[in-house]
Amino acid sequence: MKRDFWICLLFLAAFPGAAAAQSLAATPPMGWNSWNHFHCKVTADDVRAAADAIASNGMKDAGYVYVNIDDCWQSARDETGMIHANDRFGDMKALADYVHSKGLKIGLYSSPGPKTCAGYEGSYGHEQQDARQYAAWGFDYLKYDWCSAAKVYTPEQMPEVYKKMHDALARAGRPIVFSLCQYGMGRVWTWGASVGGNLWRTTNDIADRYERMSLIGFEQNGLENFAGSGHWNDPDMLEIGNGGMSHDEYVTHMTLWCILAAPLLAGNDLSKMTPDALEILTNKEAIAIDQDPKGVQGRRIAEEGPLEVWAKPLADGGMAVALFNRGQSANPVTVHFKDLRIKRAVQVRDLWAHKDLGKFKGSFTADVPIHGALLLKVK
Ligand code: GLA
Repeated sequence: MKRDFWICLLFLAAFPGAAAAQSLAATPPMGWNSWNHFHCKVTADDVRAAADAIASNGMKDAGYVYVNIDDCWQSARDETGMIHANDRFGDMKALADYVHSKGLKIGLYSSPGPKTCAGYEGSYGHEQQDARQYAAWGFDYLKYDWCSAAKVYTPEQMPEVYKKMHDALARAGRPIVFSLCQYGMGRVWTWGASVGGNLWRTTNDIADRYERMSLIGFEQNGLENFAGSGHWNDPDMLEIGNGGMSHDEYVTHMTLWCILAAPLLAGNDLSKMTPDALEILTNKEAIAIDQDPKGVQGRRIAEEGPLEVWAKPLADGGMAVALFNRGQSANPVTVHFKDLRIKRAVQVRDLWAHKDLGKFKGSFTADVPIHGALLLKVK
């Protein structure tokens, strides 16, 4: 016992990042990412504007923390191999300091291959050097995207390639959330946590269309046993506010991601947001389901054609229940409490209307609009 204590103390002294790393992503990471809206046009000013918005529009208060730069910030390496940002970004340390001054954290993006997906400089052969650089600049989150790694590694090498960067980050001595992005290849959910991933993409890219969002969201069913505190399935970033879906479709998007305990990374231009998008993104009752400390990913418990019922057990003994209508006409959807193993009468609360609906026994039915969703708390 005593010996274990000293070994543990020695370990923590040798790897100061390790203690903090254990508590990284205890609940699914929340924040913003530049890709879905800005793609390769993103600039440091856009990132500052996103941080300003989060700090002042209620998002920070609702739990959004990470301000993440995706692809396209890099220029070239210098003669020492050090990576530099391009002219759209300039001083990365100053940018990190700015985001930190708002009480937020900052993330960036690279690839284990020679080039990123957009053709910018990757980390191949410079993993340790890059990890130290990110830590020196003050970064808190790395999305590591397979892309051109396919040209230099075999698929079997994928776990060791990701572990290499995880170990490099750990040695750099700063707690950095490690986000694996390889689109779900090789059933990443079965090994992502063992190579130090705090989250891993389970699918190809999302798009701002109901068909694409719902396809990847609903196909997460069955992956729930692989998620938990510190290591999450990631069905990709949010599209809420980007304009390609209706209000009800964005409500489905948020409801599904919360039931899935998915990372909540807004992907819109936060400096020009409609009140409707902001309201969907900052629904604290929905976010509480996503961030519930029990850390269980929800699953489908019933389906009838396009009508689906999903449930997620919560730390306080209650259940989050989502009623989805994937069909082409409004329809009533019923949750049968026997499917939740509940026999007694329960209180039902509507987390979008912010209203207690009363006590129900046996079942609860509500009308759900086309492509819409209800999010309930049952207790
Ligand atoms: C891939 C990823 C996206 C985004 C782009 C950037 O497509 O899946 O999320 O990071 O690369 O080039």
